[in-house]
Formats: sequence, C-alpha cells, structure tokens
Amino acid sequence: MERKRVVVGVSGGIAAYKACTVVRQLAEAGHSVRVVPTESALRFVGAATFEALSGQPVHTGVFDDVPAVPHVAIGQQADLVVVAPATADLLARAVAGRADDLLTATLLTARCPVLFAPAMHTEMWQHPATRENVATLRTRGAVVLEPASGRLTGADTGPGRLPEAEEINTIASLLLERADALPYDLAGQKVLVTAGGTREPIDPVRFIGNRSSGKQGYAVARVAAQRGAEVTLIAAHTAGLIDPAGVDVVHVSSAQQLHDAVTKHAPEAQVLVMAAAVADFRPARAAQAKIKKRPGEEQGPTIELIRNDDVLAGAVRARGDGQLPHMRAIVGFAAETGDENGDVLFHARAKLRRKGCDLLVVNAVGDGRAFEVDHNDGWLLAADGTESALEPGSKTLMASRIVDAVVAFLDASAG
Ligand SMILES: Cc1cc2nc3c(=O)[nH]c(=O)nc-3n(C[C@H](O)[C@H](O)[C@H](O)COP(=O)(O)O)c2cc1C
Repeated sequence: MERKRVVVGVSGGIAAYKACTVVRQLAEAGHSVRVVPTESALRFVGAATFEALSGQPVHTGVFDDVPAVPHVAIGQQADLVVVAPATADLLARAVAGRADDLLTATLLTARCPVLFAPAMHTEMWQHPATRENVATLRTRGAVVLEPASGRLTGADTGPGRLPEAEEINTIASLLLERADALPYDLAGQKVLVTAGGTREPIDPVRFIGNRSSGKQGYAVARVAAQRGAEVTLIAAHTAGLIDPAGVDVVHVSSAQQLHDAVTKHAPEAQVLVMAAAVADFRPARAAQAKIKKRPGEEQGPTIELIRNDDVLAGAVRARGDGQLPHMRAIVGFAAETGDENGDVLFHARAKLRRKGCDLLVVNAVGDGRAFEVDHNDGWLLAADGTESALEPGSKTLMASRIVDAVVAFLDASAG
C-alpha cells in the first residue's frame, strides 16, 4: 500500500500503552504517523516514546508550534485518524464538538475516515451517556469499534477492553484501502459465520486436516460485527488467529462438532456464512490408542473413510423445511480448481445449483492462491444468476465486499 498520513490520537486510559504497538505497526507498514495524545494520555505514556516510535514531534495543545497551525493542518492533511484508546471522556468531547486540545481540534478538521477504538470499564461503556455518544458518532459516519471482552484495569473483566493492536490496524488498513468499507448497516441482524479447517481424528495423535487458515471467515466475522451485526463465529482450526473483538466465538474441532454448533445456533440467525473448510470424509473409526508400526510389516494400515454430513446443504434443507424461521441469506464458499471437465467458474456454478444457497464466494485455489495467505480474489455468484468479480485485495477488503453483497441481498429480499 502507498504511504499514507495517519494520525493516531491517544486519550488517557490504562490501555494507552497499547497505542505504542499501534503506532509502531503503522510506521513499519510505511505510513507517516503523527501521534496526538491528550494531556491525560501523557500521564500513562511519555511523549518521548511516541516521538521515537513515530519520528515526529508530539504536542497536546493548540498553542504548541503555532506557526504551523497544527490545530487545523494535522486534521486537514490526514488520510485516516485512529483514536486508540478512546476514553469515555474523549468520545463525549468529540460528540460535543469541543476543540479544547489538539486531538479534539484535529477531529473537527479531519475529512478523512475516523476510527475510534474505545476502552473503558464495562459500566462506563454501558452507561446511556456513552451508548448515545457512540450512536451519534456512528450516525456522523465515524467507525466506532466494538471493544473486546476480557481483563480490564484491576481484577475486573467484561466488555470494554481495547482490541489488540493487530486488530485495530487490520481495520485501519481496510479504511485506507476503502474509506466506506464499514457503514453501520447490520444493526439488529444475527450473523453466524464458520471459519477454519476441521480435523478428523485417526487416533489420539493424528488427524486428517486441510490447509484452511480461517483468515477469510474471521475477516467476514470481524467486518460484520463492526457493521453492527450480532456475530457468532464457529471457529475450527486456524493459523493462531486472534478472536475478533465484539464477536461470540465457539471453538470446535471436527466436522461433526461444527455441524452440531451450526445446528444449535442457526435457528436464531438471519445470515449464515459458511467459510469453514469442512472435511467431506472422516475415518470410519478413530482408534482409541495410537496406531503403532509393527516390526517387519511393510504395508501401512488402511483407513476407511465415510462421508460427513454436508453442513451447507443441510442448512439450506433445514430452511426449506421451516426449521430456520429467521434465516434470510445463506452464503457458501467454493475453493475450486479447473480440470478437464471445465474451468473454476463452471464447477462453481454447478456447486451453487447443487447446494441451493443464495450466494457463493468462489476462489481459485492451487499455486499458492487463497489458502494461508493474506490476500484473495475470486467471484461472487448469486442464485439469481448474477455474477461479479471480487477484485484482488486483502482478505479484510474481500470480507467487506462479501458483506456488501449480503446487505444488498437482504435489502432486495426485503423490498
Ligand atoms: C489509572 C486510570 C485508568 C483510567 N482508565 C480509563 C479507561 O480505560 N477509559 C476511560 O474512559 N477512562 C479512564 N480513566 C479516566 C480518564 O483518565 C479521565 O476520564 C480523563 O479525564 C480522560 O481524559 P482524556 O479523555 O482527555 O484523555 C482512567 C483514569 C485512571 C487514573
């Protein structure tokens, strides 16, 4: 990505130390980073740390470095403003349109995307004043991240934790790639996403797995949650991905467990996105003890495989039978290769017809494509015959396009 001007606002919360990693990663990605802390933030982390990490001077007030008129210039010139952490106080001041320090003045002059990553105690986060402030900022077009749940200051736990720096920067990068990627348009919708690769046990130490990293499904869950959906993510095995903030994550291992989790959660959901790579076959019997090499035996054991239930086709069937009363959109994924019978799209169209889902995301795989990498491309096929290309980009960008298609499908089916 080309070098962008990113302003990192830091307000005075206990999580201010995590802003150091946010700044470092943005600078390492090649961006020009200007840190604008509040006075309170500097009681948690010193200006010298932010100056050294960003390579730029750090001021808090509008009367510092007046000839450069920073209270106007920093916001005007920015490609993105990220406020991490955003305190309850900072959110309130942003809503009120205050300009009593350099950060709030910058928020008033910025015309680029603005991303707030709130962090505070659960009581502060759930207070009606903060809820209204967050809603107002979202109405004005700012992206306000759902905080993570977990350990807060002291011994308390609950929602209000600052998401990890990697997650904040994943979303920051998305907004730099596509400024309008995160409209708040899925509020009130329950979205069920599956991701990762299943493992089918052979014996207590071995399994049949696959190369899915879970990255695309995690990105869909993350984007849907930040667009306002209530998201449950059924996560099989992944490449050590961090659970997306604001998402309810159910960890599973085998295809059977994933099937059971989908069966349990689908009746509540309006949208199902089946991005997991679910094994088609499992060993007929998993050995209770480790299968051993026998001396003198040349031939290895033969493993008999049996079919697993098709989770996607099962969900489509269950909807048809009236068992999923709220389900409005079912999205499948197809990782295809061409062969002597036809190209990738030929096989994908056949899969869409066979499965009966509403939308199918198609990736061409092989030659280092799609699996275990951070970027992706492909096609989006709809049951009504419409087909569109998914231009190459990060898996998070791809996720935003997939969620766009889901929203458009929901709108069309409602109208
Ligand atoms: C140890 C400590 C931790 C704090 N952590 C938070 C926090 O995580 N979130 C928050 O909203 N306020 C927190 N506060 C309160 C803010 O520092 C206070 O509201 C301050 O006025 C914020 O100023 P600012 O928004 O200008 O940075 C904390 C205060 C202290 C003393």
